[in-house]
Amino acid sequence: MNKIAQIFDSLDYGPAPETADQANEWLDSKGRAFGHFIDGKWTKPGKTFASTNPANGSKLADITDGTAADVDAAVKAARAAFKSWSALRGYERGRYLYAIARMIQKHSRLFAVLETMDNGKPIRESRDVDIPLVARHFYHHAGWAQHLEREFPDHVPYGVCGQIIPWNFPLLMLAWKIAPALAAGNTVVLKPAEFTSLTALLFAEICERVGLPRGVVNIVTGEGDTGAAIVNHSDIDKIAFTGSTEVGKLIRAATAGSGKGLSLELGGKSPYIVFEDADLDSAVEGLVEAIWFNQGQVCCAGSRLLVQESIEERFLAKVRARMAKLRVGDPLDKSIDIGALVAPVQVERIKDLMKRGVAEGAIVYEPDGQVPADGCFLKPALVTNVSPANTLVSEEIFGPVLVAMSFRTPEEAVALANNTRYGLAATLWSENINLALDIAPKLKAGVVWINGTNQFDAAVGFGGYKESGYGREGGREGMAAYLKPLWEKDLKPAAVAKPVMAKPANPLDGGHLDQTAKMYIGGKQARPDSGYNRPVHGPKGELIGEVGEGNRKDIRNAVEAARAASGWANTAAHSRAQVLYFLAENLDYRRDEFAARIKAQTGEDGTEEVAQSVERLFAFAGWADKFDGAVHNPPMRAIAAAMVEPLGTIGIVASDNNPLLNAVSLLAPTIAMGNTAVLAPSSRHPLSMTDFYQVLETSDMPSGVVNIVTGDSLTLARTLAEHDGVDGLWFMGSAEGSAMVEKASVGNLKQTWTSRGLDYDLSDPRFAGDYFLSKATQVKNVWIPYGA
Ligand code: NAI
Ligand code: MG
Repeated sequence: MNKIAQIFDSLDYGPAPETADQANEWLDSKGRAFGHFIDGKWTKPGKTFASTNPANGSKLADITDGTAADVDAAVKAARAAFKSWSALRGYERGRYLYAIARMIQKHSRLFAVLETMDNGKPIRESRDVDIPLVARHFYHHAGWAQHLEREFPDHVPYGVCGQIIPWNFPLLMLAWKIAPALAAGNTVVLKPAEFTSLTALLFAEICERVGLPRGVVNIVTGEGDTGAAIVNHSDIDKIAFTGSTEVGKLIRAATAGSGKGLSLELGGKSPYIVFEDADLDSAVEGLVEAIWFNQGQVCCAGSRLLVQESIEERFLAKVRARMAKLRVGDPLDKSIDIGALVAPVQVERIKDLMKRGVAEGAIVYEPDGQVPADGCFLKPALVTNVSPANTLVSEEIFGPVLVAMSFRTPEEAVALANNTRYGLAATLWSENINLALDIAPKLKAGVVWINGTNQFDAAVGFGGYKESGYGREGGREGMAAYLKPLWEKDLKPAAVAKPVMAKPANPLDGGHLDQTAKMYIGGKQARPDSGYNRPVHGPKGELIGEVGEGNRKDIRNAVEAARAASGWANTAAHSRAQVLYFLAENLDYRRDEFAARIKAQTGEDGTEEVAQSVERLFAFAGWADKFDGAVHNPPMRAIAAAMVEPLGTIGIVASDNNPLLNAVSLLAPTIAMGNTAVLAPSSRHPLSMTDFYQVLETSDMPSGVVNIVTGDSLTLARTLAEHDGVDGLWFMGSAEGSAMVEKASVGNLKQTWTSRGLDYDLSDPRFAGDYFLSKATQVKNVWIPYGA
């Protein structure tokens, strides 16, 4: 047969290589050795490591391993540049971002080829996905810079931001970090991942060429310890990290108590749900995108296929047939589907995980055929016969490995989907709009794609629930993550409370009262598990009451009750508002009694505090049906509904001053947004909140929505911080207590707000609005096909 006839016969692709000439010329022009980009200048290469092309193992360049001194120099440059950069008009900053976007577009092919050479991802992806999204991000944020003052009044940039990014989308993650930071007026020190520094260095040259003022963007290359030097630098105001959950937790612990802002975008094990009424062929194509895009090295990869049992066999047969057609090979070939993994260590990691999964009973399907012997190539794999406990089901594999399980009912699909410590993304396929829109809100994930997958846009926030991290990138939420309220810098240290009465040597000498205020758990008054009470003293030291000494067990019971009341989140916002109005009314009705109680505890007239508490309840009743989401119009045939959802169960540790108002000011936004709460009231003046039970009981508040545990604030705070059933924790108290709370929150990466020993005066009307509402909520973006 002649050649043409053969081609007709096999219908296979011929080679379609993209040239690497320009990228090599650029590398040659730099002598293939790079220093850092600090203060607008290139440092001399120091101690270096090699950046290699994972498709063939060839060395591309020597990269400098940044030292703590390098990081310090970069931070100094960023600090020096901050004043004038943040003082520029937003329009002027926007012009720089616009210029960067234009330059990236102009040199898009060079960026794409360099990215593919350094990372191993198919050129089709770097050319059509990564780099266009990078340009889009800078364009989008050019606009934000200009409109910032109007959209975020009384907000200021953090200052110097330390940014640490991973290797899976090197330039895209840089764009997600740098564009909003600069738009807001911050300056940055960014460290690319050690496997993929090259496009960040090319980007630095773009910054030079557009005349970005020196010191605004500093790029320091290096490995994990360089990243740690950024995290621990005392003159950095905010850390933004994308990478593994493991390192994210280290960073949370390292920044605890530092007052640094923190956003974390971490790993995932995202479900990909296919219902029996789905368009199966489209769902198969979606699945290719979900798990074989970028060799599966995607934080939001749809790596857990959940398919309805009735179509399981048929669907998996289609998946296997499609897998056999996926072309694995040279990433610079334009018709390659799966390129190289980023580095040999990742290949080994994946192989190890697979071995473990197989030992636990998994069956692995890989299509026939060979992958290139040199380079970091793996075949696409489909894993079946797994239980939820299998390593391959629970661990983030970060490779081309799909794990399949089946379900019978939609309820079971939701339960399986949410059965993970992660919550980054979720995909669902169904032709039934009712089913799709019923399931989307039930999925605990920051992004939900309906009949599509892996869609991203600069106008749409991206980020996780649970251990996938916190903070959003993109859209309004992403801008908010780089801004803070102007007034925060004027906060003074809170006055340290006078010591409480000394404990009597003999507990029986503590005085005796007939009545002890109990705890309030699951809508019932409860005795403390410890069997101990703590005295409550008046301003002159006289015994005025007793409350239970709450312990670990009481907190556990309260959290359990709070979680059981999660249906509150689905109560209509209007109904939640009504309950809050009713609470306000009932508190108002008993204002004299509450004012007298404040006076008895603090010696101060409580009339005003009660009135303010009533007003605060009214304020958040009013917010319950107004603090809501948005609809975005990304440049795809879809809308993204940005839904404002509650965190879940929030722990609240109130402070000693204004014992009623402070507790109410923290409780009201929490429950207004559909969270349930475990409140530890002031440990010194707890009686205002133990009186509050009666108000709760007469206000139609469902049992378990508000739970109150009295006792020692720090003890209760620690238990709440360590409890994995608590999704958020707000702590008012000392700087040391705040640091403890932040550190102890790493277990499930609960979102914390702490007062850090500062004098937050919650009677200020600024606390009657979005300040706490935004902390009580997280945005889920639901992508829905829309329009032709
Ligand atoms: P990694 O989390 O160690 O690396 C991400 C970035 O953090 C890199 O720039 C690295 O230099 C830096 N880093 C490492 N240790 C640090 C520390 N102690 N302090 C500050 N910065 C530090 O991820 P790695 O080791 O490259 O990959 C391991 C696994 O992590 C992957 O197989 C994957 O499962 C997961 N991963 C998830 C990502 C995601 O986007 N969700 C991205 C990268 C990795
Ligand atoms: Mg590389």
